[in-house]
Order: sequence, then structure tokens, then C-alpha cells
Amino acid sequence: MPTIRFLLAGGAELAVEAQNGRTLMETALEHSVPGIIAECNGSAACATCHVVLPDEILSALEPISEHENDMLDFAEAPREPGSRLSCQIKVSAVLDNVAVRIPAA
Ligand code: FES
Repeated sequence: MPTIRFLLAGGAELAVEAQNGRTLMETALEHSVPGIIAECNGSAACATCHVVLPDEILSALEPISEHENDMLDFAEAPREPGSRLSCQIKVSAVLDNVAVRIPAA
């Protein structure tokens, strides 16, 4: 079971156990991680599940889709190079102990 380290907007860290195959967004909601709202419930249509991932992990994930890429432009917090929609990222071993930052809105 991978451990996901959510870095909250205020600077605190919340480490949670995640189930493989769930999305990062679902994991955040299950653990009441502040800052992940998920208004569209995972349809990649709201950008309220915006997270920022470290550069070194990006190439190990499914590539960003054109739709996700477009939606990130509507995120409340400014987009960064490691920005992704957490509803589009499945938990797997590659995310174990990775710091998933929730950008300040
Ligand atoms: Fe709406 Fe991810 S939950 S875009």
C-alpha cells in the first residue's frame, strides 16, 4: 500500500495510506485532505483537485491528456510545471512516499 505525502497549502504534511488503483483525488477525499474539493467528482471538468507533483515523478505517470492540460488553465491556483488534476492520476507503487503538493489558491 503506497504512502502518499500530501503537502498542504499552509505548509503541513499529511501522510496517508493509499490503495492502488484509486485516484489521488479519491485518496485525498477519503482522508479529508484540505484543499482537494473535486466538485465534478473526477470528470476532469472542474480543476478543484489541482496538485503539483515533483518533476522526477511526472515521466513515470500516464501522460497528461489534452483535456486535462486544457482544464489546468482554469485551476484557481496558478499552474506550475508539475501541475496535474489529481482525479486523473491512479495510485501505484511509483507514488509511494512522493510529496503531492496542494497549491495555495
Ligand atoms: Fe474535477 Fe478533478 S475532480 S477536475
